[in-house]
Amino acid sequence: MGGRATGDVLKSPARILRGDAFDLIGAVDEASVDLIVTSPPYWGLRSYGLEHSDEVLDRWEAAGCSRDRVPPYDWYAREGGQLGQEPYPSWYIAHLVEFFERARRVLKPSASLWLNLGDTYFARWSSIRDGGRQGISEGRTRRRTPSGGYLHDKQLLLLPARVAIALQDAGWILRNDLIWSKPNPMPRPEQDRLRLAHEHWFHFVQRRTTGRPSYFYDLSQAEEGGLDVVSVRPVAGTNGHSAAFPPGLVRRRIQSTCPPDGLVLDPFCGTGRAVIEAVRLGRDAIGFERQAGYASEARRALKNALAELPEKQAAKSASV
Ligand SMILES: C[S@@+](CC[C@H](N)C(=O)[O-])C[C@H]1O[C@@H](n2cnc3c(N)ncnc32)[C@H](O)[C@@H]1O
Repeated sequence: MGGRATGDVLKSPARILRGDAFDLIGAVDEASVDLIVTSPPYWGLRSYGLEHSDEVLDRWEAAGCSRDRVPPYDWYAREGGQLGQEPYPSWYIAHLVEFFERARRVLKPSASLWLNLGDTYFARWSSIRDGGRQGISEGRTRRRTPSGGYLHDKQLLLLPARVAIALQDAGWILRNDLIWSKPNPMPRPEQDRLRLAHEHWFHFVQRRTTGRPSYFYDLSQAEEGGLDVVSVRPVAGTNGHSAAFPPGLVRRRIQSTCPPDGLVLDPFCGTGRAVIEAVRLGRDAIGFERQAGYASEARRALKNALAELPEKQAAKSASV
């Protein structure tokens, strides 16, 4: 399987693996992936039904560590922490940078990373919901987030920008900040601000040891006009997943930044939209998902998508 993931865990080209992306990334072959397209959990919004321990911060301090120092992800996860539910945005940002540092090993030099992120308003007391949005409501997990510095009630945190800058600082080259404009945002009760109606899709590529970055790109496959603002209606995910990729938006990213026979990886794949679109477009694809229900939903959807493919293409994409 020249050029494809051939590690023990990854025997076939189209697969959904259940587990923690920070662990599973270690099983992917070096320099095998052409495109990572992904949307990790946003900070402080949804739990996706994953268990999280709010005691992580106390344990970190009990171990004699200051809150300003960020625990490595492995320690954080071992103590029951979930990505996206870190007590501080700085911890979340550092964990994302740590993940993409691990992911760098599996990327070909010509590969791209598309990272979709949305923003969060700060609230000292916030309710984290399984599938919904942040807000104060009855019967939900309520978590106290220590305030201080720029962490102040009602503050828009600019988290996508902070993550993008941290990745630049870690050596990634940012090529675009594509704005996904949503023409039909959810109604909100606030009467003192406008409704958030956009998310970011950051396109990163890698530095070369010498010379300018060079990577696969087919502009003719991007949206008409090739602009960095795209208006697409969000489409509800299957199995109650509320943060699924709009198929059209992810399809364009795959067509324009993954070569026709390339390998796509979505390490936080939810219901598997990126993986499914990738195989429909004739690419190989791997998805990681930690939540059992979403992982099996993604497997089911991938199986159906493979069944609908022309015979030759399905044989190439092998088993789920
Ligand atoms: C924003 S959603 C992705 C939705 C996806 N783009 C789709 O089209 O369905 C983030 C997903 O990451 C999963 N997740 C959270 N922490 C994870 C981890 N450490 N490893 C792998 N998946 C994780 C969540 O369960 C959730 O389904």
